Amino acid sequence: MEAIRWQGEFLQLLDQTKLPLVEEYIDCWDPFIVADAIKKLQVRGAPAIGAAAAFGVVLAGLNVHSEDEAELNEHVRNAIELLGKTRPTAVNLFWALKRMGDSFAATAGQGVQRRQQALLNEAQAIFEEDQAMNRRMGEYGLELIPDGAGILTHCNAGALATTGYGTALGVIRAAHEAGKSISVFADETRPLLQGARLTAWELMQDNIPVTLITDSMAAYVMKRGLVDLVIVGADRITANGDVANKIGTYGVALAAKAHGIPFYVAAPVSTFDLSLTSGEQIPIEERDAEEVRSLGGVWTAPKEVQVFNPAFDVTPAELITALITDRGVIRPPFGESIRACFER
Ligand code: MRU
Repeated sequence: MEAIRWQGEFLQLLDQTKLPLVEEYIDCWDPFIVADAIKKLQVRGAPAIGAAAAFGVVLAGLNVHSEDEAELNEHVRNAIELLGKTRPTAVNLFWALKRMGDSFAATAGQGVQRRQQALLNEAQAIFEEDQAMNRRMGEYGLELIPDGAGILTHCNAGALATTGYGTALGVIRAAHEAGKSISVFADETRPLLQGARLTAWELMQDNIPVTLITDSMAAYVMKRGLVDLVIVGADRITANGDVANKIGTYGVALAAKAHGIPFYVAAPVSTFDLSLTSGEQIPIEERDAEEVRSLGGVWTAPKEVQVFNPAFDVTPAELITALITDRGVIRPPFGESIRACFER
């Protein structure tokens, strides 16, 4: 299961809008196709968006066929600008684009071909580092998963949302691989059903026991004593430990608190935005009303009804038991522990 594949000269993205019914890859030969795929959620999930955008910049560079560095500069600059306007909330996108821009600037004057290769090297480094970070989160998170645990997750923070293995689902995978007997409740995650279409599918591929529930069932499942812990991913974590993640995460965190259930967030360092002091500063994407008025192309509401469709919410740090990062498990007070983690 690969969400993103570099094929030597072009990029392939698994079209996640068609899963689980159809497994089809989109061939991307330029940054415009990549930007479009990010906007449409054909590739989605914070780390996957970042890695896809990095390869989008590579494609912009490869589309320069002259020896003119000025032309290369313009292509790369335009691509970074275009890709940076696709989705506002996941900071991994901007983290990856900054890395691409910085490494590109460092090769100024070295000629078009060497600079094209340097862009590819940087995108591949981003890709490989993400996979390694996911594995490390899995190792660190393992201690938090008791044998026999019922685990609730929201949205999809799995292999599909990353370059492989996953963040929240990476921890779940690691526990399964370690021989722990676990079972997962996957919230369906309205409006776009990432939990139903992607998480349920992904876990079933790995034979990890999964039960699909609608979002409104989460609190009841907790009340019934079926959930021992919650693990979700993140799109942006601020310096005080507030976490932006898929809409509905905040409600799950409140319900977990009310039932005394630990609430964990798994995210690599590329998801932290230490330039923001609190979650209130995180830009929250609002998406098209049609996503709420209809389901799978069928109207489920009056066509003209007014809709509010924020794609993310912010869970305040005080509802979070621990952050599982690739540098270890971080506990409250998060302001101090996050700072210490990044100073390491
Ligand atoms: O709108 P999406 O599908 O891109 O939202 C994805 C999420 O909210 C994920 O939980 C988050 O990006 C973490 S992915 C490892």
